Parts: sequence; structure tokens; C-alpha cells
Amino acid sequence: AETDRENMLAVNDFAMRYFEKNLKETQEGRDIGLSYFRYRGISDAMVERFHLGYAVEGRDALFATALERGYSEKYLLSTGLCSRTDDGRVFDRFRGRVIYPILSLSGKVVAFGGRTLSKEKKIAKYVNSPESDIYLKRRELYGLYQAKQAIAKAQKCILVEGYMDVISMHQAGVCNVVASSGTALTVEQVRLIKRFTSNVTLIYDSDAAGIKASLRGIELLLQDGMDIKVLLLPEGDDPDSFAQSHSSTEVEEYIKAHETDFISFMARILMGEAADDPARRAQVITRIVKTIALIPDEITRRVYVQECSRLLFMDEDVLRREVGKYYNEYR
Ligand code: UTP
Ligand code: MN
Ligand code: MN
Ligand code: MN
Ligand code: MN
Repeated sequence: AETDRENMLAVNDFAMRYFEKNLKETQEGRDIGLSYFRYRGISDAMVERFHLGYAVEGRDALFATALERGYSEKYLLSTGLCSRTDDGRVFDRFRGRVIYPILSLSGKVVAFGGRTLSKEKKIAKYVNSPESDIYLKRRELYGLYQAKQAIAKAQKCILVEGYMDVISMHQAGVCNVVASSGTALTVEQVRLIKRFTSNVTLIYDSDAAGIKASLRGIELLLQDGMDIKVLLLPEGDDPDSFAQSHSSTEVEEYIKAHETDFISFMARILMGEAADDPARRAQVITRIVKTIALIPDEITRRVYVQECSRLLFMDEDVLRREVGKYYNEYR
């Protein structure tokens, strides 16, 4: 019911403020959480803008405080802020982690991400709120609330993978940035972006997983009629590490100089793998042709056929025929 959702949002809002207070006003928060953000190069202004926080160690610090303030156990459990063990004891989900609140388009706190400070491989790097009546992860984009005006103004949305990528890009003055936060991009997320612009630039991590996610993202975005560019960062970088090791001007100029259309991106990635094996080169061209065939608009398909022909030295009429074939198969 509506009041249930309002109560869940209220308890999340309390938790956000509690985590923020922990970060700045407790010894543990300052020594551990705030030092971690400093070590990652995050400024106080970004801590404020993204309402970053800290969940103290201990089984039920949030639970106990929230009950004291009159919040009910029911909503602490349904938001996933707390869980109950088999023997009935309630404990906090986020313990000894820095906290990234996830805000909806309208600025409501719908969920949290919590990062461990430990480099121990066995501990999950991020713990996130579970899905609930107020949080469907396929419908949210991290940072959209803070980025939406910049996206509308620039008429461009930059898509990255993670929390830190969004924050470090903002700090570098690039504010039209949102993250799909570790899940594959969804059509719901694309529709959210479309409310502000139809231009998207993908800047995923420069590793195998990031490249795979870019290829999937390209297909989804093209199908929905979005205009896309892709940027490949230097090997091993993600937008966070890149923004932290370059000046604001360098970040902006790098994006301007290195973002390419999806054909160039696919050709570069996939042709590199195919080397000079003719059969594999043919497979790559077919894959690119199938991708072009996803584009709903005919003129746009034509333009990309020309680009593909130019880049891959392949006869334009042949490409156009093949694109047409797959286009009709898809309908
Ligand atoms: P990454 O592993 O690339 O982490 O995951 P990151 O954002 O670069 O984080 P740092 O720099 O190591 O701190 C990208 C995103 O995927 C989600 C998070 O949203 C993360 O920001 N993720 C990742 C999870 O939800 N859980 C995980 O265990 C790992
Ligand atoms: Mn705040
Ligand atoms: Mn990654
Ligand atoms: Mn990353
Ligand atoms: Mn990172």
C-alpha cells in the first residue's frame, strides 16, 4: 500500500542521515570511512552532494537507533536495512562499510550500496539493498538525480559502471554521468535517460567485462532509437581511476577526442581479435551488420552502412542488402 511505501522511504531517509552523521561525527566514521574517501581522492563537496556515509561495525547499531527514534521493525526489515536470523535476532545489513545512497529520479532514497574497506577477496566488495516495493534495480540509475540537469543541458548522458565512476567524474566537472551499477543496462533505464536526451556515450571499464557490457549496451540502446558513442579508456582504467589521475580539462578533452561511433568501436575491438583470418573477419562484419539492422530509423541505418563500408572496405550495396535482410527478420 501507499503508506507502506511512504514508511519505507521515511526509514531509508533516516538511515541515510544516520550514515552521513556516522561518517562525519563519530571517531570510527572519521578514522575509517572519511579516511577511505580521502584515500580515494573524494572531496568533501562530493561527500555532501552524494550524501556519502558510513555504517559502523557492530551487529545492530542502526536497528537500535532507529527503534529508539520510533521507526518500526517492519520497515527496517522490508527495506532490507536489517534482517532477522533464524533464532529471531535482528541485525544490520551494512556493517563497517562506506555507504552510497541510491536516489530515485525525484530524489527519494530507495536503496543503498555499501563498499567494504577491506582488500580481502573473500568479502563481497559491494553489498546492496535487496529489491523491494520501493526499489526495482532495473528501474534506477545511480546518480541520475544529481546528473539530470547537466544531461538535459549537454544533451548527452554518459553511462558508466559504478558508484565511484559517477562521483569522480562529477568531481572532475563532468556532471552528466550515471551508472547502471553492476547490472546489465535495461530498457527501463534507457527510457529514463530518454526523458532527458537521446544521446548516450558509454564509458565502461577498460577490461574484458567492460567491453562485453559495452557490446550488449550498444544493442539495447540502438534498438530504442538512441544515438550512441563509445569511449575506450586506456587499458586497466575505469572512469574513476582516469578522472582521479587527470585534470578536469584533460578528462573533457580525452572524451572529446576519443569517443567514437559504435561501428569504429566494434571494428576496433572485434577486428583486432579476428586479425587477418578471413573467416573470422567475415563473422565480425556479419555481427556489425546485424547490429546496424537493430536501428529503427532507415536513414540512420543508411548512414551507418556507409560508415561500415568505408571502415571495413566492404561494398556498400552488399552491406545494405544484408542489413535489410536482418532488419526484416527482426520485425
Ligand atoms: P567494479 O567492480 O568495477 O567496482 O563494479 P568499482 O565501481 O570500480 O568500485 P571500486 O573502484 O573498486 O571501489 C562496478 C559496479 O558494479 C556494482 C557496483 O555498483 C559497482 O560500483 N558491484 C560490483 C556490485 O553491486 N557488487 C559487487 O560485488 C561488485
Ligand atoms: Mn546529506
Ligand atoms: Mn569492473
Ligand atoms: Mn570499475
Ligand atoms: Mn573503480
